[in-house]
Amino acid sequence: MRRLLVTGGAGFIGSNFVRMMLSEHPDCFIVNLDKLTYAGNLENLAGPVRSETPEGTSNGAGFLDNPNHKFIKGDICDGALIEKIVEQYRIDTIINFAAESHVDRSISEPKIFIETNVTGTLTLLEVARDKKLERFIQISTDEVYGALGPQGKFTEETPLSPNSPYSASKAAADQLVAAFGHTWGVKYNITRCSNNYGPYQFPEKLIPLMTNNALDDKELPVYGDGLYVRDWLYVYDHCTAIWQVLQKAPPGEIYNIGGCNEKTNLEVIYLILKRLGKPKSLIKYVTDRPGHDRRYAIDASKIISGLNWRPSVSFEEGIEKTIDWYVQNQKWLANVVSGEYQKYYESMYGNR
Ligand code: NAD
Ligand code: DAU
Repeated sequence: MRRLLVTGGAGFIGSNFVRMMLSEHPDCFIVNLDKLTYAGNLENLAGPVRSETPEGTSNGAGFLDNPNHKFIKGDICDGALIEKIVEQYRIDTIINFAAESHVDRSISEPKIFIETNVTGTLTLLEVARDKKLERFIQISTDEVYGALGPQGKFTEETPLSPNSPYSASKAAADQLVAAFGHTWGVKYNITRCSNNYGPYQFPEKLIPLMTNNALDDKELPVYGDGLYVRDWLYVYDHCTAIWQVLQKAPPGEIYNIGGCNEKTNLEVIYLILKRLGKPKSLIKYVTDRPGHDRRYAIDASKIISGLNWRPSVSFEEGIEKTIDWYVQNQKWLANVVSGEYQKYYESMYGNR
């Protein structure tokens, strides 16, 4: 039985990963460590465990009473806690999802991004080195490569050239992971995925924010000309890619993950409006994000040919499933946008 420490498993991708693992890979035991920041939510772990795939099955048990899952509230910067967890639960692998993940917040308040994304990763690496863990998997991002012009895609050889405090902190973490491999022989992998979408994403990010606003007939704040391009991947497919890395990747390898779904932001927003039957007049062009990366696109041929991974959900299918999920889970939406979110929204969009 693999014994995993998953950090950030109450966030968007982490909770989808834990859900997939408990539902499809019962031969793994997971300690889920999460600080429960504004983005981490135990409601992401409520209800029966079931994959968000058409084939997803429920084993009837919830997350929090599942014998293969132990949730612990805590900070990845707390080295003593990490060491205790690794010893007590005989952890063999750390998968580090925990991060401050929103670019706009990193522009308003960069410091916490350095604390969690850099110091937190360093703290986990020190334990992985000292306890000689079998593997350390760092969940990174395509944003470490910077921005593309109209042509080309990011490969694993593309030089790191981050543009925001968020992506700079993720690039620093990646470099630390590689340095621990080089200096102390820590066995690691780094994954760099493009934009994820799907259930349980916090509505500060494009798709859930626009869906939530459209449901409430509120303005949809489009940054700049709306022609920025992102390469979208359904979150379940990101999770299956990480599972392939966990099972098959040789140590020291880096993998790009993406689904070849480049869309402008306006294309995505039009799809949301169409699915919800709302008018384009809700769109409001607002002041652009400072330093906004124009285009991301992933060349995923290394993970496709090397680890035999394939995305399973097309963008057309995934976006409909995602919008429908938010429509069907308005109680979840209402709960996450209460409290702190209102202040955030006012400060980010109030005078824009
Ligand atoms: P998220 O913001 O939804 O979740 C992050 C989680 O980490 C939250 O549950 C939060 O409580 C937890 N966390 C934050 N600081 C912590 C700390 N100090 N200690 C413990 N837990 C802490 O983020 P996400 O979108 O799920 O992203 C997960 C990872 O995937 C991140 O590392 C991100 O950089 C990476 N990534 C995200 C995307 C995307 O499109 N969302 C794409 C590629 C890579
Ligand atoms: O590429 C992977 C990255 O994707 C991850 O590493 C990040 O954690 C994740 O947040 C995401 O970053 P982006 O900045 O691309 O995602 P976001 O949803 O914030 O924005 C997507 C695009 O939509 C971007 O061009 C900015 C634009 N946008 C976003 C918001 C929130 C708007 O036009 N209006 C908005 O209100």
